[in-house]
Amino acid sequence: MCGIIGIASNKPVSINIINSLKKLEYRGYDSAGLATLINNFINEKKCSGRVDELEKILFKSPSDGNIGIGHVRWATHGVPNVVNAHPHSSKNVSVVHNGIIENSDELKKELELKGIKFKSQTDTEVITLLITEALKNSEPLVAVFSILKKLKGSFALGIIFKDFPDIIIGARRGSPLAVGFSNNENYLGSDSYALKSMTNKISYLDDGELCILTENSVSFYDSNLKKINKKIHIVSKDENISDKGDYKNFMSKEIFEQPITAKKCVNEYIDSIKKDINIYNFPLEPKKIKKIILIGCGTAYHSCLVAKYWFEELTKIDIEIDIASEFRYRNIKFNSNNLYIFVSQSGETADTAAALDICKKNNVKTCAVVNTIESTIARNSDWVLPIHAGPEIGVASTKAFIGQLIVLYILSLKFSSMREEIDKKIYYQKIKNLEKLPNSIKNTLLLEPDLQLMAKEFLDARGSMFLGRGCSFPIALEGALKLKELSYLHAEGYPAGEMKHGPLALIEEGLPVIVIAPKDKYFEKTLSNMQEVIARGGKIFFFTDNKKELISENIRFGLRITNIDNFLSPILMTIPLQLLAYHVALLKNCDIDKPRNLAKSVTVE
Ligand code: G6P
Repeated sequence: MCGIIGIASNKPVSINIINSLKKLEYRGYDSAGLATLINNFINEKKCSGRVDELEKILFKSPSDGNIGIGHVRWATHGVPNVVNAHPHSSKNVSVVHNGIIENSDELKKELELKGIKFKSQTDTEVITLLITEALKNSEPLVAVFSILKKLKGSFALGIIFKDFPDIIIGARRGSPLAVGFSNNENYLGSDSYALKSMTNKISYLDDGELCILTENSVSFYDSNLKKINKKIHIVSKDENISDKGDYKNFMSKEIFEQPITAKKCVNEYIDSIKKDINIYNFPLEPKKIKKIILIGCGTAYHSCLVAKYWFEELTKIDIEIDIASEFRYRNIKFNSNNLYIFVSQSGETADTAAALDICKKNNVKTCAVVNTIESTIARNSDWVLPIHAGPEIGVASTKAFIGQLIVLYILSLKFSSMREEIDKKIYYQKIKNLEKLPNSIKNTLLLEPDLQLMAKEFLDARGSMFLGRGCSFPIALEGALKLKELSYLHAEGYPAGEMKHGPLALIEEGLPVIVIAPKDKYFEKTLSNMQEVIARGGKIFFFTDNKKELISENIRFGLRITNIDNFLSPILMTIPLQLLAYHVALLKNCDIDKPRNLAKSVTVE
């Protein structure tokens, strides 16, 4: 993963580098660093931990320089310490890198045979030392270009040179890289978001391309080192997202923003006068769609799983779902009558972006369900359906998940109506129900005190299980994922019907088991599965929309979530699961917005 920034200016750059790094922390936060050029000397400052630490270092010992690069790291090669933090510099060159160099061991050995010494355990230092060698015989652009051919894997690079104090070179393969333009200042960044407070004029490097920035010029080169022109995009203004308001952290703010997320999303896709869904410009005529393939990672994958049930119930279209990291290496039989839908909050997840690239190469129609409309996945898709959740800062996704679910549900309804597979009356009733969703989410959030109480029961647990059937199965997976991510407590999500095929062996006296059981066609079956758990001593937390079943001496806690439509129950059932994970993590004093070892956007394989 990692985030990179570069600034070439006519004034000192370190403060702006720090501010941009804060915005890039969603890509990694285990160490940070920057390098500026001062009087033909590379001045490097690095720390383990967060950008705040780097800022403190800089406060004590300021770093001038009108040209500089910065980095936030999510460790791949080498533990997260100061030595392994980027930039990686030799006497002549300093490099920041996002990506993974797969043949770094091999290249390292070659360099070591020449007597070259390494300081860190990273793959990136290989790049620094290869460029340093190449600079002995060539000027910077040619030196960088010549060594890129030796690298296997993915990279976005920002490079400064002691003896060429006016330039920053950028290069990309696999990992995204944006270039920003301003007056007497130009920028390099992992995404446009990091640059937005400084400029709204952005170009994006394509694979194999390079660029040279100075304070008042930017030149682009293709993969043959031929000078090229690039389109300049005008991106939306910076949104002020640094304010947590009265909330303890961004995650609680984002959980409680969900009624607004839902409202924005519903308003965007439902015409409130015609009471109809206003989605147009389909890349494929809905009646001709043979199959829909939904692809994502993490929480986004869970929304694909839920959508599978909706599409199957509402349409006759074949549905397949896949985890992007699996999809990209499978031997897929592509079909031009299929629609490939990519779901991603950030729109930058490396595996999802790579899976999309494969679809593009096979000339099939693609759709992006994303939160960030300027992202790589959005730009590269034939069709974009934004979720309108606004910036999500907490690493564990909450409001973006709700937005993804709403968009996918609306899409399944629209397809069903356009293919004449749903009764018109039911269709319009479902739209009415959707309009009630924001308020239902608001009411569900009022259950927080119950979830605070439940959370205490998880403090001494050795693990936990989340069970559901039908649409509630992916919600069980998402509930378990939230608890793992936030509280580091082992949690497994299972289809309740699978328990007897293995997981029942894990049930012991007092193990917390969350059973998600809306009154749908699976309800009675789920109750039977729950009895099997009770018989073996599991401590049951029962989430339902059916009041009658709540009172039972065998149920430790019962929670009633008021439902408006069975199709919407996965959305409403998610809310208490988010609150439960949140409160367990709070009691355990975990770093809720930045859980250990994770990153908001996973930009490496
Ligand atoms: C990371 C995040 C998850 C997210 C997943 C996919 O693992 O921590 O919250 O679900 O990436 O991210 P995307 O941006 O593609 O939805």
